[in-house]
Amino acid sequence: MIVGIIGSGGREHAICHSLNKSKKINKIYCFPGNAGTSNIAENININLDEFEKLKDFILQKNIELVVVGPEKPLVNGITDYLEGFGIKVFGPNKIASQLEGSKIFTKNLCKKYNIPTANFGIFKNQIDAKNFLGKSNYPIVIKADNLAAGKGVYICENSDQSNQAVKEIFDGKFGKAENVLIEEFLKGEEMSFFIISDGSSFQSFGTAQDHKRVLEGDKGKNTGGMGAYSPSRLINNELEKKILDKIIKPTLKAMIDLKTSYKGFLYAGLMIIKNEPYLIEYNVRMGDPECQTLIPKLNTDFYEIINACCENRLDTIKIKWNNKKSLCVVLCSKGYPDTYKKNVEIKNITQLNLGSSDYLFHAGTLKKNKTTLAIGGRVLNFVSLSNDFSTARNKIHQYIVNLNWSGGFFRKDIGYKVIDK
Ligand code: AMP
Ligand code: GLY
Repeated sequence: MIVGIIGSGGREHAICHSLNKSKKINKIYCFPGNAGTSNIAENININLDEFEKLKDFILQKNIELVVVGPEKPLVNGITDYLEGFGIKVFGPNKIASQLEGSKIFTKNLCKKYNIPTANFGIFKNQIDAKNFLGKSNYPIVIKADNLAAGKGVYICENSDQSNQAVKEIFDGKFGKAENVLIEEFLKGEEMSFFIISDGSSFQSFGTAQDHKRVLEGDKGKNTGGMGAYSPSRLINNELEKKILDKIIKPTLKAMIDLKTSYKGFLYAGLMIIKNEPYLIEYNVRMGDPECQTLIPKLNTDFYEIINACCENRLDTIKIKWNNKKSLCVVLCSKGYPDTYKKNVEIKNITQLNLGSSDYLFHAGTLKKNKTTLAIGGRVLNFVSLSNDFSTARNKIHQYIVNLNWSGGFFRKDIGYKVIDK
């Protein structure tokens, strides 16, 4: 079997690593991949917006199955496009991908299906939004409707901040805005909850806790994710049942009502308040770095799971996990999430000796001649599986010390709520 993976982050390297272990797979192409995937697959540098070029390459190389990592091509309809040429694709179609592509689509769906979420209002212009904000309690949350690579969300403490947010959104900071979403601020603890679905049936795919802020103690700017651990400390059987019954199942039913279905990973970003789940957002893909954290725990052939999904027979697969604790720390370029240097060599990377339960997944890296260069903000993901989170984190810190890369920084407190209690 020849497989293609779309994307270039740590998530895609983890997916590539896991698929590469399957005996059924003899070749993997990554579009465009990174230095890590280039060791186990062939990287192909095609722009992900150029669906036709991707399709031509996929057909020419007889790639039988394509796994889509990031949200943008999904929201832009890559699944529908490639399936139109008879290519098997793991990832939701364009209609279903609105769950991430339009926050307002999802909020309206929550309202219709009684899915617990923050109270909200949708405003079509600045005047209406500002009138409402004048009468609101703070903090309050203001969101751009469309995909904004995690940046279109403002948590506002006062009316100056909220008026500024509304202005920026309508001024087009995140693309043309026809409306703005204003939400009640929910105070609780966040959790990432995953399922995998083939359109007819679904299975839970684990939980994780992500650290999105750049500074220790969960302070500073939002990032793509500085590290994660799995399982989440919040999950229990009662909570999982509530998440499935109140959030996941009504959402999948909504897809059927829209005369479509959901195939792929679905990632619910939840706020948990007193063991009750509230939906903050949906992502139509795996999380990054949650994927890197979760996938090494998988004891079932990942290819078999994904292929079964594409063939609408996920119910024939029993997904097995090992019960170790997993922790991931992201090593970033100094300056991230603001400006940082590119093409900085990571000298000692080939000298790292990892234990059998430890993993190094690349993100923003590029292999040039024989050297590995950092070309992105999030550069390397260190993952360790252990009987306890503390051992996992200590091992990772030792690897980072050994790597001794002067261009990087990382958060030393990933998992503090389960380690440094
Ligand atoms: P989102 O892109 O929708 O996940 O929002 C980014 C981050 O903003 C989330 O991970 C939360 O930390 C925070 N956030 C979003 N909506 C709310 C809300 N209604 N209440 C509290 N925090 C929120
Ligand atoms: N880790 C957050 C995300 O993947 O969106």
